Amino acid sequence: MSLMSSPSWQDGFKNMLELINSLPEQFEYTKASDIVWPHVKSQDIKHIIVCGMGGSAIGGDILRCCLMPLAPVPVLVNRGYELPSFAGKNTLVFAVSYSGNTEETLNSFEEALARGAQIVAVTSGGVLAKRAGEEGVPVIRVPGGLPPRASLGYLFAPLALAAEGLGVAPGMGAALQETIDVLKRMRDELAQPGSEASKLAARLKGKITVIWGSGPLVEAAAMRWKAQFNENAKSMAFYNCFPELNHNEFVGFEAPQDLMDRVAVLILQDHKEHGQNIKRTAITKELLHSRVPEFEVVNSRGDSIMARLLSLIYFGDYVSVYLAREYETDPMPVTLIEELKQRLKESGR
Ligand code: F6R
Repeated sequence: MSLMSSPSWQDGFKNMLELINSLPEQFEYTKASDIVWPHVKSQDIKHIIVCGMGGSAIGGDILRCCLMPLAPVPVLVNRGYELPSFAGKNTLVFAVSYSGNTEETLNSFEEALARGAQIVAVTSGGVLAKRAGEEGVPVIRVPGGLPPRASLGYLFAPLALAAEGLGVAPGMGAALQETIDVLKRMRDELAQPGSEASKLAARLKGKITVIWGSGPLVEAAAMRWKAQFNENAKSMAFYNCFPELNHNEFVGFEAPQDLMDRVAVLILQDHKEHGQNIKRTAITKELLHSRVPEFEVVNSRGDSIMARLLSLIYFGDYVSVYLAREYETDPMPVTLIEELKQRLKESGR
């Protein structure tokens, strides 16, 4: 029996919980790996593009958020078939696909090759590993056989360490070590029955969850919570961040109260958030009080932006698997995604 399909939802729950527990060790594995970085001069890199979809793209968003306050070059996550027009020989492209068979990523990889970009492939195998081998593109191989979303440590850590190795992301190794320490402490609490994460999951049962990041730097955490709620708990969730949501989304909370009664709002609060965003959060809560009496709040831990982001993400990963348990649904399979990919394949190109 493969890890992807479980004989019962209870087995699926145990398997996914085990995988979530393994996140700090996934980071340690990558730190200890003997990865050969490409021979690129940092002054030749003017932009970084991470190409990937779903569970393979989120590591790119974590990198983007981590590097926003640090890196001398912009980081963009490309979730689609085509590269932006500026991509060329001064672009460092990470082509990330856990399976190595995701068509959008494969297409972007071929475009990156054609444009002479500096490419690094991150994958467990598939067509991406094969094509990279044929073209002499460096491949960072990650252990196979897991759901991509449960391989976050394997998929994100190489990006951070490669970017540091290439001279465009200072301090990533040290931040990774801090992150490992923070996550291990969190695991001691959150993996326990009756943990705060499992209590929160019980309160979110039956709700559509709206996840709000306290600012743009924690956007990747809000994205990850949403995706984990969708894929693990098979539940509806949406995300946005302050201050943008104050310019549109929160007006939608004037919808009829019977709709609002089905919504739970969860705020991912970074303890180093910009002062104005902290004020915005407080005022927003006051303005919406009659419609949303209770906001759930999860606070970041750690010092570096990486640790703060990953601490929010880790809490959400646990909540998502506990929410799956509340719904008595198997968190492992993502049947709709598989079926869609299969039907696309059958339809040819
Ligand atoms: C996550 C998941 C999807 C995939 C996405 C891309 O567990 O199943 O979000 O990550 O469909 O596939 P890969 O990661 O193989 O490129």
